[in-house]
Amino acid sequence: MSALLELHGLSVDIGNRSLLEEVSFSLERSQILGLVGESGSGKSLTALTITGLLPLIGGRVTGGRILFDGMDMAQLSDSSRRKLRGGRIGFVMQNPMTALDPVQRIGEQVDVVSRLHLGLSHRDARARTLDLMAQLRIPEAKAVAEAYPHQLSGGMKQRIVIAIALAGDPDLIVADEPTTALDVTVQAQIIQILTGLVRERGLALLLITHDMGVVAQACDRVAVLYAGRLAEERAVGPLFETPAHPYTEALIGCIPRDEMGAGGLNGIQGTVPSAANFPPGCRFHPRCDRAVDICRTTRPAPRPLSDNGGVACHLAQGGSL
Ligand SMILES: Nc1ncnc2c1ncn2[C@@H]1O[C@H](COP(=O)(O)OP(=O)(O)OP(=O)(O)O)[C@@H](O)[C@H]1O
Ligand code: SF4
Ligand SMILES: [Mg+2]
Repeated sequence: MSALLELHGLSVDIGNRSLLEEVSFSLERSQILGLVGESGSGKSLTALTITGLLPLIGGRVTGGRILFDGMDMAQLSDSSRRKLRGGRIGFVMQNPMTALDPVQRIGEQVDVVSRLHLGLSHRDARARTLDLMAQLRIPEAKAVAEAYPHQLSGGMKQRIVIAIALAGDPDLIVADEPTTALDVTVQAQIIQILTGLVRERGLALLLITHDMGVVAQACDRVAVLYAGRLAEERAVGPLFETPAHPYTEALIGCIPRDEMGAGGLNGIQGTVPSAANFPPGCRFHPRCDRAVDICRTTRPAPRPLSDNGGVACHLAQGGSL
């Protein structure tokens, strides 16, 4: 079976800055792909490109292509792309707290999606909204539907944003940091709900997060971005057991050893370079304790790993480090 979503060598610029460079990964139905990397690595840009929203922030695709269910997104008309988003592709944007309209009742904000994308009547749309709210374990759904966003907790608002993403009956959900602003218990509940939906409905989920703990718990595959390039892409088991890229290894090293985060929050030294200051060669080299001469001059080409994954590091030779 071919993948539902395929990125082939995707490159994106904003102005004269190259912010994504030849990013490739694929996602199948019933699968959760975690897209990880520190702040500024290009996760949201990838999400905006997949959902066709890149022009809104002045970005453009300069290379590669995105296939959704075999369709080349670049060949679609603007109206077809708009139909896909909200319909077959549900998008949970980063900062959902601002994604809801403060002056519209919650129910109406969910209803409109199924009216628009599934052609439902007002009455059927509301029934669907209440049903989705129940699936998302929102208590007293009828009362919540009549409420305004400011009357709900962060966790409830987040569930509503997910309900909006689900309302058009999507095949793919792109969820950009869907739990970041929430407390740990609510985070766990929302991740559990999302994974349940993937398994029950055969959805595909692109889960963007900087939390490797969430990735280990929820994802099937992982794509690791660093400074706009893909560092590694693997199934979750091998990635955690034998990371092939030093950056992946460093991210795994950042996972708190216990729930309180005590005893080992080893942040990675330094920060992701900005696009104005990408270093030559491997962009991770100034922070990599394994760097050798070639790393400072030559970009490591992505290469396949024996387990159906891929890595871009001069020292990874078809196996892990
Ligand atoms: N509208 C924009 N105009 C110019 N540069 C931008 C714009 N949006 C993002 N960038 C740049 O693109 C790079 C990637 O940004 P992006 O928002 O995709 O990162 P991210 O991985 O989602 O980070 P975070 O974890 O903080 O959400 C950053 O260097 C950022 O400064
Ligand atoms: S290519 Fe070199 S600098 Fe980059 S991650 Fe591999 S060893 Fe480190
Ligand atoms: Mg982001």
